[in-house]
Amino acid sequence: MARGQKTVYICQQCGYQSPKWLGKCPACGEWNSLVEERAPSPESERRRLGYMGRAAPKSYAEIEPHADVRWTSGLPEFDRVLGGGIVPGSVVLVGGDPGIGKSTLLLQVADQLTRRYGAVLYVSGEESERQIKMRGERLGLQARALYVLTETQLESVCDAIETLRPSAVVIDSIQTIFSEAFESVPGSLTQVREAATRFLMLAKSHEIPIFLIGHVTKEGMIAGPKALEHIVDTVLYFEGERHQNHRVIRAVKNRYGATNEVGVFEMTSRGLIPVPNPSAMFLSERPLGVSGSVVSACLEGTRPILIELQALVGSSGYGVGRRMTRGVDPYRVALLLAVLERRAGLQLAGCDVFVNVAGGISVDEPAVDLAIVAAVASSFRNVAFDPQTVVFGEVGLAGEVRAVSAAAARAREAAQMGFRHLVLPENNRRSVEASETLEVIGVRSIFEVLDLLLSE
Ligand code: TYD
Ligand code: MG
Repeated sequence: MARGQKTVYICQQCGYQSPKWLGKCPACGEWNSLVEERAPSPESERRRLGYMGRAAPKSYAEIEPHADVRWTSGLPEFDRVLGGGIVPGSVVLVGGDPGIGKSTLLLQVADQLTRRYGAVLYVSGEESERQIKMRGERLGLQARALYVLTETQLESVCDAIETLRPSAVVIDSIQTIFSEAFESVPGSLTQVREAATRFLMLAKSHEIPIFLIGHVTKEGMIAGPKALEHIVDTVLYFEGERHQNHRVIRAVKNRYGATNEVGVFEMTSRGLIPVPNPSAMFLSERPLGVSGSVVSACLEGTRPILIELQALVGSSGYGVGRRMTRGVDPYRVALLLAVLERRAGLQLAGCDVFVNVAGGISVDEPAVDLAIVAAVASSFRNVAFDPQTVVFGEVGLAGEVRAVSAAAARAREAAQMGFRHLVLPENNRRSVEASETLEVIGVRSIFEVLDLLLSE
């Protein structure tokens, strides 16, 4: 970098700026994430914020309400995460680990959009035209008006959008796009932000949706999708394990819909297929009559999903027991183990405890507390919990069971999936109707659940 030019060190994860290099970012705590870049010019920052143009105050009453126009992506689960469809003029960031299926999903979406709304431009800075074609063949695309551009230079991509005037654009990936106007390396925070801002302006001025694919990265050299979250309208993240077939897409930010909404897909040899009934999928491999397995109902966005919680308690080879979790918050589990130990007298201190949500999905809802407690107790006592029972409820430090939201919706899902019994907080019982096929049992404390377990 030329002498005398103002440079700063920018954290590629969170955008923190420092005049000198630091090993650890003081803002987000990331190690080795500060990279030397030219200070963003005030002009570019202004442009970023000022895309709506010069405005005068307007009376609220005069503002025309925007008709809620939504396009369908042809994939119902994708429409669902977006809050009911694609909003023209919005910028959607799709993040996820490499190889999880981001390019596959958006190529499918692009193809579907061409069928209904006309030309779609797919910009790839990662793969060649031939590679994209190969993937397309595998997916059985019709792709009548799908245009592929293998380009990484921001200005050329914008020109292509201006000349082609597509009805939607996919950028795969935002980290490969760079502007000649900046000296920073492609993928750096400055470049990625500049590109995202330009695409935001294009999306708003042409009233077209633009999808940005972003890699989640551990290394500091490439700015992660986190750095763009505040610029774009909607942020979706892919979850799931690469060696398992299902993929969960979660909305973590959405200016046009509820956050935390999820869409569930299955990765097949012909691409991603929406899963309309996730409960059936997550419970499909459940072992029946085995200790440590309990079914709970969690709420993902507006949708209840049944999941299987598994616990394994074994004596530790060392003095201090290990606690390992997958899919649930380890602190929450530690708290529940302490409650079980102190309030219910389970001697867990010398035990290894593993808690897992089957199927690789993660839940961060206190409503699964009671199922975790039941699963741990079931494994500890080596008594199987009734496989026809669904359990949900929040557990407090005194061992009390507290009410949760949307109990009726959770109960309906349990009934629909053919479960016979429902154990839920007593305070939720009134909102849930028992039926001939579903027995509803309200509990006030974890002791009642442990008693149920012993009466098996
Ligand atoms: P990809 O969309 O390239 O992932 P990303 O863009 O997130 O890096 O998906 C790659 C994986 O998906 C790869 O391991 C192969 C698998 N796959 C299928 O299983 N079926 C398919 O039809 C396609 C196209 C990919
Ligand atoms: Mg890809």
